[in-house]
Amino acid sequence: MLIDRLFLIFSIIRTSSYIRSSSNNANLSFILTIAFCKLLIMGNCQNNPLPVDTFFGFPTALPTWPTGGGFGSGEMDLGGLQIRKVSTFKKIWTSYQSGMNNFGATFFEPDPIPDGFSMLGSYAQTNDQPLFGWNFVGKSDGTDILKQPTDYTLVWSDTSTTESAYFWLPIPPDGYKAVGFVITTTADKPSLDKIRCVRSDFTDESEIEAWIWGQGGMNVYGSRPKTRGTKAQQLSVGAFLVQTDNYTDTLPCLKNNNSTVSAAPNLSQIKAVFNTYSPYIYFFSKENYLPSSVNWFFSNGALLYKKDDESNPVGIEADGSNLPQGGSNDGEYWIDLPGGKNERRRVQGGDLQNAEAYLHSKAVLGGAFTDIQVWIFYPFNGHATAKLGIIHEISLGKIGEHVGDWEHVTLRISNFDGVLYRVYFAAHAGGTWVDASLLEYAGGGGAANKFVGYASHNGHAAYFQAGEYVQGPGEVGIRNDTGKSDMVMDTGASFTVVAADGLSAAEGVVEPAWLEYAREWGPKISYDFGKEVKRLERWLPGKLKSLFKKLVEKLPEEVYGEEGPTGPKMKSSWDGDEI
Ligand SMILES: *[C@@H]1O[C@H](CO)[C@@H](O)[C@H](O)[C@H]1NC(C)=O
Ligand SMILES: *[C@@H]1O[C@H](CO)[C@@H](O)[C@H](O)[C@H]1NC(C)=O
Ligand SMILES: *[C@@H]1O[C@H](CO)[C@@H](O)[C@H](O)[C@H]1NC(C)=O
Ligand SMILES: *[C@@H]1O[C@H](CO)[C@@H](O)[C@H](O)[C@H]1NC(C)=O
Ligand SMILES: *[C@@H]1O[C@H](CO)[C@@H](O)[C@H](O)[C@H]1NC(C)=O
Repeated sequence: MLIDRLFLIFSIIRTSSYIRSSSNNANLSFILTIAFCKLLIMGNCQNNPLPVDTFFGFPTALPTWPTGGGFGSGEMDLGGLQIRKVSTFKKIWTSYQSGMNNFGATFFEPDPIPDGFSMLGSYAQTNDQPLFGWNFVGKSDGTDILKQPTDYTLVWSDTSTTESAYFWLPIPPDGYKAVGFVITTTADKPSLDKIRCVRSDFTDESEIEAWIWGQGGMNVYGSRPKTRGTKAQQLSVGAFLVQTDNYTDTLPCLKNNNSTVSAAPNLSQIKAVFNTYSPYIYFFSKENYLPSSVNWFFSNGALLYKKDDESNPVGIEADGSNLPQGGSNDGEYWIDLPGGKNERRRVQGGDLQNAEAYLHSKAVLGGAFTDIQVWIFYPFNGHATAKLGIIHEISLGKIGEHVGDWEHVTLRISNFDGVLYRVYFAAHAGGTWVDASLLEYAGGGGAANKFVGYASHNGHAAYFQAGEYVQGPGEVGIRNDTGKSDMVMDTGASFTVVAADGLSAAEGVVEPAWLEYAREWGPKISYDFGKEVKRLERWLPGKLKSLFKKLVEKLPEEVYGEEGPTGPKMKSSWDGDEI
């Protein structure tokens, strides 16, 4: 009891500090109300509405997408197995314990299910967020790709509260697999007609993605396909899976046996979608190194160097047409800023007015979704800044600096209805997926559904919330500060689709020459790291010196783990999944 209470106090503090750091505090009063209610009565807070009781809605209604092809048609043919996306649900059971922020979770069935279609699994979500998810339902007219289960196994039940819950795993016929669970609130087995199992050749291996809820040895997870990336045929059903001490299987995902680009958007659809959600990227108030278009960088004096001929750099054509094409990142060539000191400084600063977003649209998750990668180029990545004990901000000299910085965010769009499902914010070597229901939106007029992103000071890593991100254990760490200033890039105002799955030059997508440039957009770091560290260390008083040493030990990895100076097409996320 005491432990529980302490935990609750802790989670209130955590939640409120999380909210404070967030600019999106729509849920604040709500989360605190529930937390206090729990603290006071130590029981269920059934009478309070939960965020999950409300469907997430975009700030304004989505537009009608240009019609044509499979995109936006609401249905996909996986090669004899038709699927539809159902994102409305019937609530089956709620737990008010466990889950994110100890808010519990709610379990749903897709509802209504369109005529002729069947349920393949059920949906679960934590209670601390508005309801926003989907389940695929399926139909296999004239084929035997879907079949009823032969029976059910009771994998777990909770009969301790007034409302009981039973979690049933369908037992598939030979050659078929269950891809989701059925939940009931009575001990009676569900009818065999309730759900369908999928023929094995339309399934593949999945893996656990995120923990949703758990209690006494039982855990509920979301899952994703093991094989992901551009044109991967595997797709999740959107259903939760359950594991217990006695049942540890990971239910499979679906597999598309048809073209993965059949539902992909064409150029006018990509443009319509991007015009709807295109992010505003805010720069930190002290940012000196803004983005520019590639064209601006090339026509403002960027130079191409060749190994063993360093004294004869050549100017680069505005469209990059004289850059070496193909090959690998072998150090034979590199790009650098122009020679003169003033010119270098000018080009380092970029040109926000001339900045451009470069889009790569790719079919992912069996072609059920499109990832639109939004690549932004910065001529220069500024030095790292650290927090060192009582010194909140200390410049790390040249450490972290490099010429040529490519950064990106990725919009994951449902091909069924053009709904933005989540956004990937790439930050250094890692990044985060954030559901559309948790994003900050710009608001106002036609821009209402455009979301907001933040580029961190000097390093330009992408974040979905403003804040002072400090890496490391409190006292010491690299700062990645973000915030709103009057420097903002409206990516929708100037963008080019540079590559799109299934779309050729004839369909309007022409890859620029610089995309095939495989070498680095900046020279190898040319200063002496050890000397730079010594130079900085000299200025620090004794106590801070030791903190600084601690920081430096992890520095190279942290600072150079960034996306850095190779072009978009050379990054693993170009063909692979965002990780
Ligand atoms: C996209 O497809 C629709 C329908 O086929 C067509 O009207 C439109 O012109 C296409 N747009 C582009 C840019 O290909
Ligand atoms: C593949 O999908 C297309 C478009 O949805 C559909 O017309 C076609 O029949 C499907 N192919 C097979 C083999 O089912
Ligand atoms: C696992 O099975 C044992 C024996 O049937 C049972 O007592 C236990 O509650 C089960 N554990 C879970 C988490 O279901
Ligand atoms: C569909 O399945 C068949 C049989 O497994 C396979 O040969 C074929 O390549 C698959 N087609 C696609 C588009 O995946
Ligand atoms: C801050 O930036 C460094 C690189 O400059 C990176 O390694 C680190 O992960 C970032 N920290 C956070 C919390 O994003």
